[in-house]
Amino acid sequence: MDYLTITQSPNLCGSIAISGAKNAALPLLALTLLSKDDAQISNLPDVADVKTLSKLLEHLGARLQNLDSHTLRINCADIIHTKALYDIVRKMRASILVLGALLARFRKCQVSLPGGCAIGARPVDLHLKAMEKMGAQIHIEGGYIIANAPKGLQGADILFDKISVTGSENVIMAAALAKGKTRIINAAKEPEVVQLCEVLAQNGIEIEGIGSNEISIYGSDGELPRFSPFSVIPDRIEAGTYLCAGAITNSRITLDNANSTHLQAILEKLEEIGFGFEITESSITILPAKKRNAFELITTEYPGFPTDMQAQFMALATQCEGVSVIEERLFENRFMHVSELQRLGADIKLSGNIAKISGAKPLMGANVMATDLRASSALVLAALIAKDTTQIHRIYHLDRGYENLESKLKSLGVTISRDKE
Ligand code: UD1
Repeated sequence: MDYLTITQSPNLCGSIAISGAKNAALPLLALTLLSKDDAQISNLPDVADVKTLSKLLEHLGARLQNLDSHTLRINCADIIHTKALYDIVRKMRASILVLGALLARFRKCQVSLPGGCAIGARPVDLHLKAMEKMGAQIHIEGGYIIANAPKGLQGADILFDKISVTGSENVIMAAALAKGKTRIINAAKEPEVVQLCEVLAQNGIEIEGIGSNEISIYGSDGELPRFSPFSVIPDRIEAGTYLCAGAITNSRITLDNANSTHLQAILEKLEEIGFGFEITESSITILPAKKRNAFELITTEYPGFPTDMQAQFMALATQCEGVSVIEERLFENRFMHVSELQRLGADIKLSGNIAKISGAKPLMGANVMATDLRASSALVLAALIAKDTTQIHRIYHLDRGYENLESKLKSLGVTISRDKE
């Protein structure tokens, strides 16, 4: 297993390019299951989660061709299985994204139950209820979701009582081939959901209300779409993480290939703390703060503050003056990074889903353990300013979602190396 060694690197400078968004790439890869023709996707991030979903597609019978390190040509004409195996799904919960597309095109599928994960129970009940509402019969057997829709899926009104990103995406993909209109009420509005809708809309599926909380999809009644080549949007969470690297070291750094409109909640919070920005159509430069003020934040669905940036802002709070308060509203157990930040000397008090961080205290390098993807990036951020050296173990979590993390950090001036345990 690999681990990272980071030596205190308090002055960053320079620029890096933001990769394609992992959470946009995953549903877009699953989307290709809806077509018999070649689909070509560029700006795919070279990260483990994309490889896992690619492997799942290949296992189902898709033919994948790497046109370059970030572009895939995918052909799903000859799908031979409709079973997403436990061995692949257990590596990545988002494998559930093949459910809607497989069921819509093949009228049957089996998907291993994703099970629990480090940040909480994360059920898939909303996905299953929605598929049932669209006419599927679903039961669970031997750890698999077994779904059948012998007459094909029917459009329906789907009211989500909780907003779910991958739940909305599964319904959108299923609805694209269903018979009639599907209306999703309380749909997720994340930019990744918007891109999925836009790709469908650009390729002949009529969708109303894209980017709003009520989306109507007019299904093709089994007619398969053809996808013209498209490119994955920039990763707003990767961009937010590097903005926090600039913020925790109070340095000026520039992110290229970033879309600031997807980062409003993050930029506003950084502004409240004391940072300034220079923004162009495709770049963001963070400017050092005179004083870094404590802040309060609550994680909510887009366009609110993303739960995927909560851990990184907690690392930043350790360097802000005063007591910051962070409330996690989306996942019940997303505070695994607290005990690891405490090992570095952070002063954090946890009470239920609220963390209070007393800031402006020095951190000290130590051995720490990565527990999930975003918790790991918080440890990397803390290590930038912790005295001496920090070793971060179990970094396979980071590799799931951050492309070329070491080389990007090195080019900003960080002393970092990767070794084997
Ligand atoms: C997606 C993102 C993840 C992000 C999360 C919230 C991907 C691949 N992953 O995950 O990075 O942290 O959105 O922004 O895009 N819920 C249920 N039943 C369900 C589904 C969800 O109760 O069937 C609950 C969850 O436990 C959670 C909330 O709804 O409390 C939101 O989860 P959801 O939006 O579904 O997260 P994911 O789509 O899994």
